[in-house]
Amino acid sequence: RKSRVIFSGIQPTGTPHLGNFLGALQNWVRLQEDSQPEDVLIYSIVGWHSLTLPQNPHALAVARREMLAALLAIGLDPKRVIIFHQDDNPHHTDLSWVFNCITPVGKLRRMTTWKARLATSRNAKDESEVDESMLNTGLFTYPVLQAADILLYKATHVPVGEDQKQHIELARDIGDNFNRTFRDLFPLPAYIATPTRRVLSLKDPTSKMSKSSPDISSRILLTDSEKEIRTKIRSAVTDSITGVTYDPATRPGTSNLLSILGACTNEEPAVVAKRFESKGHGDLKADVADAVVALLERPRTEFERLRGEEAYITRIAKEGVEKAMVRSGATMREVRHSVGL
Ligand code: ADP
Ligand code: NA
Repeated sequence: RKSRVIFSGIQPTGTPHLGNFLGALQNWVRLQEDSQPEDVLIYSIVGWHSLTLPQNPHALAVARREMLAALLAIGLDPKRVIIFHQDDNPHHTDLSWVFNCITPVGKLRRMTTWKARLATSRNAKDESEVDESMLNTGLFTYPVLQAADILLYKATHVPVGEDQKQHIELARDIGDNFNRTFRDLFPLPAYIATPTRRVLSLKDPTSKMSKSSPDISSRILLTDSEKEIRTKIRSAVTDSITGVTYDPATRPGTSNLLSILGACTNEEPAVVAKRFESKGHGDLKADVADAVVALLERPRTEFERLRGEEAYITRIAKEGVEKAMVRSGATMREVRHSVGL
């Protein structure tokens, strides 16, 4: 098979949660295990992206370092993959500027992530009108930065959660636009789906489980103790329908739990549902909790050990960005030459 360049990123906006783990990180490790010696795997902690929402600077600095510890804790091996901080490498913002200059505003307006932000930003005087003036420009153009993250390494494959699929399509569009406007430089990256669907918030199963939700009981963290995991799952919002069936449209909370359990046991959620046909939500939650506790035990123990190893974390970050910049530097020389700078 042709050699692959795999790129993915995660924001350092807090402790990774079960959605990150099932939707993305677990797959990063699988790809490492399945990789051929000629494949290149690049995993980045995307600090620049995190500034699109207000952050507490001290908390961000801690989370930034701890995210690297978390990536090592889940089993990524810095000898086999490149792990680095995006904000340590200036080529990302350089290329994103070039891409901003060839990306129509209208294309970014069609991003569902942008539309979702707009929907929460109502005009104070007229509730029915959205108010763009409340949203910063970084939030609008961050899919362009994401395209730069990916294309800077001429990535061929991008394993991200379902929520990011449209952004990968945009990255292909931007790469194609560059190739046709200047010269054929970028392979168009393919989206790699994770087996798991989007993991939903335990408190509001109409939205995804997210680091940015203020309600900490809505997500299970990589650092949660067994007791915390059990409490959060026990209090997950389901529905008042008797019995357990898999029906994401009408029973999002129940279906989310089935989907989480299926991800842990490698089964389709509808198959999992069959086992609970004559049982109730209590039984389902007990089994989900057991499975999640078992799934996260090793990463959690490793994370607790590694987060204190500051010198080691700093060294891995430094070695990582040096390797990343060899590749991104070569691309930027070609890009600059292509556009005439
Ligand atoms: P968050 O939205 O929680 O801040 P990031 O934006 O840092 O997470 O995303 C990191 C990775 O985790 C991405 O590949 C993203 O698609 C994936 N991801 C984030 N939330 C979920 C979720 N609830 N379910 C599945 N995958 C998710
Ligand atoms: Na996000």
